[in-house]
Amino acid sequence: MNYIERRTKSVSSRIIPVQPFDYVVFGATGDLTKRKLIPALYHRFYDGQFDEHSRIIGVSRTKWTDADFQKAARDDIAQFVEKEYQDEKVIDRFVSTFSYVVNDVTDEAKWGDLGGKLRDDPKVVRAFYLAIAPDLFGPTCEYIKKKGYYRRDARVVIEKPLGHDLASSIAINDEVSRIFEEDQVYRIDHYLGKETVQNLLALRFANILFEPVWNSTHIDHVQISVAETVGAGTRGYYDESGALRDMVQNHMAQLLCLVAMEPPASDGANALRDEKLKVLRSLQPITAADVGKVTVRGQYRAGSIDGQSVPSYQDELPEDKKGSKTETFVALKAEIGNWRWAGVPFYFRTGKRLATRASEIVIQFRDIPHSMFDHAEGAPRPNRLIINIQPDEGVKMFLMIKDPGPGGMRLREAPLDLSFAATFHERTPEAYERLLLDVIRGQQTLFMRRDELEAAWRWIDPIRNAWDASSDAPQAYAAGTWGPSGAVALIERDGRTWHEDDN
Ligand code: BG6
Repeated sequence: MNYIERRTKSVSSRIIPVQPFDYVVFGATGDLTKRKLIPALYHRFYDGQFDEHSRIIGVSRTKWTDADFQKAARDDIAQFVEKEYQDEKVIDRFVSTFSYVVNDVTDEAKWGDLGGKLRDDPKVVRAFYLAIAPDLFGPTCEYIKKKGYYRRDARVVIEKPLGHDLASSIAINDEVSRIFEEDQVYRIDHYLGKETVQNLLALRFANILFEPVWNSTHIDHVQISVAETVGAGTRGYYDESGALRDMVQNHMAQLLCLVAMEPPASDGANALRDEKLKVLRSLQPITAADVGKVTVRGQYRAGSIDGQSVPSYQDELPEDKKGSKTETFVALKAEIGNWRWAGVPFYFRTGKRLATRASEIVIQFRDIPHSMFDHAEGAPRPNRLIINIQPDEGVKMFLMIKDPGPGGMRLREAPLDLSFAATFHERTPEAYERLLLDVIRGQQTLFMRRDELEAAWRWIDPIRNAWDASSDAPQAYAAGTWGPSGAVALIERDGRTWHEDDN
């Protein structure tokens, strides 16, 4: 084992058990519980981060028994947990923590006995995860209070869609805050739970190297891309939302905040969120007059991804939605009006059915002020820092070097390449693993505060309104490409290009 391996091993394999908990999951039969929550909790259980003294209590209208919920959890683990972590003995112990209550929060006559499952012990953390539609958040919170399940130290977890605009987001937050205080509310943006996203904090604030050059004097522009190959037409919710609300308002805005914020004084929840909020509030409004110049929306047509034909968005939609103008792609240019970032564009690009699945942040530095290499082959190119969020997690810093060997001074670009997979040999935890247990730890740093969420909507709403008011349809792009030609034009008008290949 070399030095880096020894160092990384000793730090990364620390598993600190959390306090025992009662995790009440409303929406226990739904997709989020199945695909994300149960696999994430299983992994944490497998690693010994909690044990049988904790309880997972499923709540839903579906008439399941404890045994049905346990059976469903076994199936979810079989389907969504990597084979090498499926251990029958561990699974038996894990599902023994599961119980279930049939409950309809919209109908008082159909309230089951959730109270009978909750423990009164103050050492047992009580958390309510609302994996249900946002219009049920209000009634569910009231129900929790009315039935006596509320405790001042209980936590409630909610996640998107937290509204479809500022007004609806305020309404949802008002309903939740009638019962729960802000320090009890955990608003999930699962991008904040991704290892590589948290690594942005380490990169920026645990190294001295970057901060002096992290500003408009040295950075030319930033690109934030989240490209997906999956389609969206069969997801009922998506057509109401579109890429702007589904990805930009939350995940991409959060990435922007972590790149652009001032160094927080501490990693305390409010210290960090105060800085993110300042970024969101400094975003220059995109007005109806600008929207055509600095935003592009697209919708995919049929095409091919990795040699497989895929249908168009329209073909995937149910009959009653055909003709939809919902965007499945967005590119836009954001600007932050403060001293650090004035004049530095942040280009966003996200879409479904793109050529490949890749999320990354590219920090493009400026040119050197003067080149001394009058007689060299190859001109110096500006440095680039690439943070690969997924799937090949890592960080690459492109530098100019002398091409080795005789033949005079030849300059070429080469990366310092930190691949997480090659450096760290442990599995990378899924975002929900970290977030679900941060709720139990009472650690809100990686959750969105209400004012952040509302500031992001304040920036998004005018874009959405301008699009809705326009008679233009989203630009077409073939599935398997990088989006509509307008997205290329958006950045090329500024004399720049999208980053596509590192090599
Ligand atoms: C979700 C969006 O929040 O994030 C989806 O609703 C999107 O449309 C997903 O596919 C992307 O998450 P990840 O973790 O796969 O990058």
